[in-house]
Amino acid sequence: MTIKTKLLATGMFVPENKVTNDDLAKTIDTSDEWIVERTGIKSRHISDPKKAEFPTDMAYKATLQALDKAGLEPNDIDMIIFATVTPDVKIPNSASILQTKLGITNQCACMDIAVACSGFVYGANMANSFIQTGMAKNVLVVGSEMLSTEVDWEDRRICILFGDGCGVGVFGPTPEGESSEVLSSCLGTDGTGRDFFNQYHGGAVSPLTPEIIMKREHFMQMKGTEMFKVATRTLASNAKKVIELAGIKLEDVDWVVPHQANIRIIETTAKLLRVPMDKVIVNIDKYGNTSAATIPMAFHEAIEEGKIKRGDIILMDAFGAGLTHGATLMRF
Ligand code: UT7
Repeated sequence: MTIKTKLLATGMFVPENKVTNDDLAKTIDTSDEWIVERTGIKSRHISDPKKAEFPTDMAYKATLQALDKAGLEPNDIDMIIFATVTPDVKIPNSASILQTKLGITNQCACMDIAVACSGFVYGANMANSFIQTGMAKNVLVVGSEMLSTEVDWEDRRICILFGDGCGVGVFGPTPEGESSEVLSSCLGTDGTGRDFFNQYHGGAVSPLTPEIIMKREHFMQMKGTEMFKVATRTLASNAKKVIELAGIKLEDVDWVVPHQANIRIIETTAKLLRVPMDKVIVNIDKYGNTSAATIPMAFHEAIEEGKIKRGDIILMDAFGAGLTHGATLMRF
């Protein structure tokens, strides 16, 4: 008998410090009006290193919530997939750090995946594969990012877009008699677009030097217009692909949970798909772009708000640096 996968529960955490557009306008040449009109973002949350709001700290708090909702103990988790491009430290991976923070003693498999904003969709599909093959039972998928350390707070083209936060999902086998399952998915990457969003320095090829830091070249760089165009195209075509693969119609989708990079990207994609915006989960206004965390955070809030309910068909649709992309259709 085929094992099906259920998203058992979700959790989220954002740092306490909320930074509004007006706050940013005090230090850079921008305005609330420009940011809201061009991106849909009104505020974002930024980690305070003194309060231990690093990616694994946020993940710890979000996971406790999800475990509580799922009725599971930390040692019931037998795999952690941690999606992040802003790990606490380079070595060891964030999943291992989270394992010890959660007090997991069962030696569960721990891995990080660096898939940028597509991280949660990739992680969810990996969880599904491990569960379906029986290699794992309860898989914790984390999207946790502290992008505030990687953006140049003097560059108005980029710093207004991003925020810190974490969302998690605990996946497990669907109990007999229930209908939850992953219906279809597609994952992909177009490496030819890798220059659209990058951070050249700080790796093996170009270790950080005082000169690079002085010139402020160590931060993330993005070609916004190019990313925008690819994003809308890719999100729409992947959505169509997973709908076709599942053999359903667009009208059957109850909720679209897209990556939250820009409200205009979300609206354009919805228009291309002819999906009304009242079926699309949006929370970019509150948190900005938190990369791998946007989809699980939006998913979590939509459940908490009573929008997403058991049995609903959900489309998760993401793209990010790489250019990675992926979509998943699931019956929640
Ligand atoms: O998660 C995946 C990665 N992220 C994305 O995929 C994001 C995709 N791109 C975008 O969301 C948009 O391209 C941006 C929000 C980044 C930029 O929006 P835009 O409408 O493409 O603006 P633009 O870059 O074409 O800039 C228009 C003008 C420029 O002024 P001039 O040259 O026309 O005089 C910019 O200098 O707006 C100016 N500008 C700003 N003005 C006020 C750029 N940033 C700001 C700002 N405040 N923060």
